[in-house]
Amino acid sequence: MRKQIRNTAVGVLKRAGLAPMVKSLMGLNGAAGLNGSSAAKINFRGDHHCFDRYFKHHGTMKSTAALSDQDRMDACLFYQYREKSECALTAASSYYGGDYMEFGALDLNTFRNFLSAYDIFRLDEQYPDTRFYAFDIFGKMETANAETQAFVDKMESSLPYFSKFTLRGDLLPEHLEYVKQHGLYESRCHLVQGYFHDTLSKDFKERMLQEGRCIGFAFLDCNRPENYKIVFEWIYDLMGVNSYIYLDEYLQVPGVHEYFEEFTEKLKARDLSVTYIRNAAGFGALFRIWGNEIQEPLEIDTTAAAALACTRREEKQSELKRKLALREERRRAG
Ligand SMILES: C[S@@+](CC[C@H](N)C(=O)[O-])C[C@H]1O[C@@H](n2cnc3c(N)ncnc32)[C@H](O)[C@@H]1O
Repeated sequence: MRKQIRNTAVGVLKRAGLAPMVKSLMGLNGAAGLNGSSAAKINFRGDHHCFDRYFKHHGTMKSTAALSDQDRMDACLFYQYREKSECALTAASSYYGGDYMEFGALDLNTFRNFLSAYDIFRLDEQYPDTRFYAFDIFGKMETANAETQAFVDKMESSLPYFSKFTLRGDLLPEHLEYVKQHGLYESRCHLVQGYFHDTLSKDFKERMLQEGRCIGFAFLDCNRPENYKIVFEWIYDLMGVNSYIYLDEYLQVPGVHEYFEEFTEKLKARDLSVTYIRNAAGFGALFRIWGNEIQEPLEIDTTAAAALACTRREEKQSELKRKLALREERRRAG
């Protein structure tokens, strides 16, 4: 029973935007990666096939009744992060250029996913100019902007949010170190510290547009609808045909889905639409933006097919009537 409660708690914490607390408890923050498991028979550290051992040879799951709490938590986190890694690989496997921008990037787990995915598919050869942006407060709570402060105060008064991410103080220096340690495209990685209100400025966007830059992949992992709203409003004119967009709370947090519907509706004014690509477990979803190209209509004559379908339907109906009449006849004959 205790085990059940702990695992359910992970989901609840994630929905409340407190997943980093879970990660801290698990020792998942920063560059360290997954902690070792307590069970002798299953050890996550350094064992890349560990999760696969939960499955029988034909793909169904083994009983997990004997697992320790730590094992369950490890499996749960492994599965969730693996799904996000696969979303990065999905986007990189068919990339069309443009900058990578992550909104809500603490710990740089998902940020580094994309650097690796970009490297695996050798996208640098095709797009050597791509920049990788990570927007986050990175543990720093203060802002000099009164409007931003009012937003933060409002968020904190409902259900504390930002304060949870500032318990470890200013984390920018160690995040810069994570990028360095990762060893990929360091000079093109930009960690932008501050609240979205302050960092996602008009000037920055203007500069991007003037330089002819666009967003190739917008990765949103900022928990609350209020934060998603700011990002949607800012990225609107920077998204282009074949840009990807990932929403980490799309399937889970009420409000995020609604804002995204509104966002996609507004994209129509730019002749763009959105197509769903895949989920990340039960929480996130990846989409791609399409240009609404006007095509010649398909030249398929449906008249003959419709007439044939109609004949078949009539034949089936009379067959059914015949069978019913036969059954009735037999019933009467006793
Ligand atoms: C779940 S964490 C991101 C985790 C990260 N994507 C990873 O998996 O490595 C969410 C982050 O979003 C940041 N965030 C949310 N809203 C923000 C805002 N309005 N301005 C700046 N950062 C924000 C929080 O500070 C927090 O660090």
